[in-house]
Amino acid sequence: MLDAIRRRRVTRSFTAEPVSADVLREILRAARCASSAGNRRIHRFLVIRDAATVKRLKPFAPGMLGWPPALIVVSTDLEQARKANVQFERDMNSWIDVGTALMSMMLAAQALGLGSCPATSFSQAAVARLLDFPPTLLPELILQLGHPLGQPSRSPRRASALRLEDLTDWERLGQREPEPDATASSTRAEASESTIQSTR
Ligand SMILES: Cc1cc2nc3c(=O)[nH]c(=O)nc-3n(C[C@H](O)[C@H](O)[C@H](O)COP(=O)(O)O)c2cc1C
Repeated sequence: MLDAIRRRRVTRSFTAEPVSADVLREILRAARCASSAGNRRIHRFLVIRDAATVKRLKPFAPGMLGWPPALIVVSTDLEQARKANVQFERDMNSWIDVGTALMSMMLAAQALGLGSCPATSFSQAAVARLLDFPPTLLPELILQLGHPLGQPSRSPRRASALRLEDLTDWERLGQREPEPDATASSTRAEASESTIQSTR
């Protein structure tokens, strides 16, 4: 699992090979299993494999760079959200839920030998219109899926890319490393505490 997480990269070029419904169902199950705030499940998933539909969407989705043989459009069901009393203006959880579903689907796709790339750069109004969505369904993200064209990138992330240390502080802002002794002694303390508990 950790290796898969480290190796995952987006795929923007796909072969024309179709993606089977079974494989797509597996990817959708991964979305269904993703963590969801309050377990509200206010998102819906539309699978598109029709090349003509992909072609019609492309001009309104500059974030879709290649020709993916399959798409999963993740949308917010506004009717469901209303029932769950979601206050969009001060509740970011809905958008976070799109992210948890996305990551689960991307990792599932990778495990199944597919490449994937999310796109949020698209006209929500145009996509909703082209897909005949009711006004209660808002497209949030398009996941492009397919068999990677050529060898998927397995190269390590660029040396110039941000490192973990550039993004992370420990205990307080400005502290870049954990205190080695503190970590070791707290681990020792936890170990001795569990020893104490187990002998109680
Ligand atoms: C919420 C979100 C939206 C994204 N939208 C697009 C997009 O519209 N078009 C695109 O080509 N890539 C898109 N990406 C992919 C990112 O550009 C990509 O994840 C990033 O460059 C890091 O590459 P990696 O995933 O291979 O590590 C998106 C990623 C996320 C998480």
